Amino acid sequence: MMSDIASSLNPAPTSEEWQRARSRLDKLWQRGADFLGTPYAILAGAMSWVSERHLVSAISNAGGFGVIACGAMEPARLAEEIAATRALTDRPFGVNLITMHPKLDELVQVCLDAKVGHIVLAGGIPPSAAIKAAKDGGAKVIGFAPALVLAKRLIKMGVDALVIEGAEAGGHIGPVSLTVLAQEILPHIQNVPVFVAGGLGRGDALVSYLEQGAAGGQFGTRFAAAEESIAHENFKKAFVRANARDATTSVQLDERFPVIPVRAISNEGGRKFVAHQADVIRRFQAGDLTREDAQLEIEHFWAGALRRAVIDGDVEEGSVMAGQSVGMVKSVQPVAQIIADLIDQAVIALIRQQRRMDADG
Ligand SMILES: Cc1cc2nc3c(=O)[nH]c(=O)nc-3n(C[C@H](O)[C@H](O)[C@H](O)COP(=O)(O)O)c2cc1C
Repeated sequence: MMSDIASSLNPAPTSEEWQRARSRLDKLWQRGADFLGTPYAILAGAMSWVSERHLVSAISNAGGFGVIACGAMEPARLAEEIAATRALTDRPFGVNLITMHPKLDELVQVCLDAKVGHIVLAGGIPPSAAIKAAKDGGAKVIGFAPALVLAKRLIKMGVDALVIEGAEAGGHIGPVSLTVLAQEILPHIQNVPVFVAGGLGRGDALVSYLEQGAAGGQFGTRFAAAEESIAHENFKKAFVRANARDATTSVQLDERFPVIPVRAISNEGGRKFVAHQADVIRRFQAGDLTREDAQLEIEHFWAGALRRAVIDGDVEEGSVMAGQSVGMVKSVQPVAQIIADLIDQAVIALIRQQRRMDADG
């Protein structure tokens, strides 16, 4: 079925062209789709407070792969969220666990008890024991590789798939763009599927990474403001309003006091954070604070800030984590529409490519 997006192509695609490009897309992402057990290799990035039962099940029901963000949840709370998600979908979905969670082992066990097929271990190199426990329990493990050496190490440790996430992404980020990470990692890793993340807002961009060898794409920002997302109306409006350049990284004033790099929509909270750091550094220099206490004061500034933005709708003082692809969020759309648009854009990119090649020949 051709969509409104298809009308951007001139002349309009024939149904034969459409079918041919559609089946090429299926081939390009087949490895990723098979790994996830979904029709499409569209992996949803877990987003704390946002990726709960409603959004996760909507993504899986629409043919993508939803992932619950465990964040700081306690094991019992995670068990409840998994059960509630399963009540809303019979399709596969995963759970994202943060490796520094003090109850990581218990959380892995909760996933295994609930027969979650895929566990994403985020936030640093995961402990071998957690990878082994997850795999012995029958789950597939997905890890994050911020560099080629770490990708290789994770594969040796037993992960079944990797995500490489560029600095364009929303939330906690690494320093390197996806354009560069993809070139550094994709040509060298063939034995496990690699999903690309960070800055993906359209299907055409996904196609270019699939052609470089990616197995699929991970999208966060694109889904955060979906109709089914429980995020506060203000949070969704901030996404619709923002341009790419509004999604900036946290500012660090003094290298003695490191700030965790986070990409979020610039707001009053971000400006106050800079003033807060200046004040803490001044008190440290005056001898009123130890270095450790100064660092803690800086780190505590954002405690609870994502929840304030997502749940309470305080988009001025809270942390409105978003990637640069936020500029491509033009309205609040149902998840199924977002996925359909991504697929149409990918198919059109492939039709354009085919036409260029036919013209050359
Ligand atoms: C609001 C928000 C919260 C996020 N929370 C998490 C998280 O809890 N765990 C995680 O691994 N990644 C988290 N991420 C990153 C996403 O899972 C995903 O990798 C990222 O959004 C992909 O880049 P994109 O935003 O350009 O699509 C978050 C991203 C956003 C926008």
